Amino acid sequence: AISALALVASAGIAMANPEGCDDGEMVIKFSHVTNADKHPKGIAAALFAKRVNAEMDGKVCVEVYPNSTLYNDDQVLEAMLQGDVQMAAPSLSKFETFTKKYRIFDLPFMFKNMDAVDEFQNSEIGQKMKNEMVRRGLQGLEFWHSGLKQFSANKPLLVPGDAKGLKFRVQPSDVLIAQMKALDASPQPMAFSEVYGALQTGVVDGQENTWSNIYGQKFYEVQDGITETNHGLLDYMVVTSVDWWESLDPAIRDQIASILHDVTVERNAAINEVEENSKQAILATGATIRELTPEQRQQWVDAMKPVWAQFTDDVGQANIDAAQAINA
Ligand code: LMR
Repeated sequence: AISALALVASAGIAMANPEGCDDGEMVIKFSHVTNADKHPKGIAAALFAKRVNAEMDGKVCVEVYPNSTLYNDDQVLEAMLQGDVQMAAPSLSKFETFTKKYRIFDLPFMFKNMDAVDEFQNSEIGQKMKNEMVRRGLQGLEFWHSGLKQFSANKPLLVPGDAKGLKFRVQPSDVLIAQMKALDASPQPMAFSEVYGALQTGVVDGQENTWSNIYGQKFYEVQDGITETNHGLLDYMVVTSVDWWESLDPAIRDQIASILHDVTVERNAAINEVEENSKQAILATGATIRELTPEQRQQWVDAMKPVWAQFTDDVGQANIDAAQAINA
């Protein structure tokens, strides 16, 4: 265990299991892109590792690699299919090449709040979505919450016209690209780890993300301000490879699944609190957060919601109807 730790430390990789894994333990590498201690995903991954490493000691050991230290989201799913990493929790926007069903989560103004997201994901329709990528080799295990997205840019954004002509970093998702085009803005897909630098150097003018990501990546340092739009969702699928998952001893697999489920319920229930903490931490830096009047917000809705029509065939009208019934 000590030599493994030394190796990891010398490579500059942070791990959630400071003791390292012991000989004979099956190692689960969990790769993600956010910070480990203040972000909803980082906190959940660390708690999952802590519980597995305590309750399955001697059998299974989870190593968490946060902050894109092992892979960024463009690489991690391929690495998973190769067997180089066992678990990850990319955002639902990062599965474009595996399924189009998750596009419903990217459609602007689909969910009114995180309770609605929770209810939809826990419905029969939502739970079935975990199996959507099985034929492509990936097994979805649990939805993890991140929160609603806000816009920021190098100039004030109060009405949709303010975004016109600006370059916005987006995740690699056709829905998000269409959403920015609906604002007459220019979408630039880019890895999460590159966004701060791109905002700082003016490669892009703005971005959209949750409070915890805006805080964790310090985007507020290189933006004029953040506008509280709550216009879209950022959520995750905890994912593994079908091959690896099915290779596990059933008792081991059940115990991992059960711990993961407990962690999911506990941390998803805390999402609004973690996001609010990040928002308050941004405010405490002196950064500007702009609130919209109901009339201003309606203008964003009117500009962006027409995007739904482009993706109805991909996501299914019945799924949209189910999501809207929950909002009502
Ligand atoms: C992003 O790329 O903006 C997010 O998916 C990052 C994350 O995992 O929260």
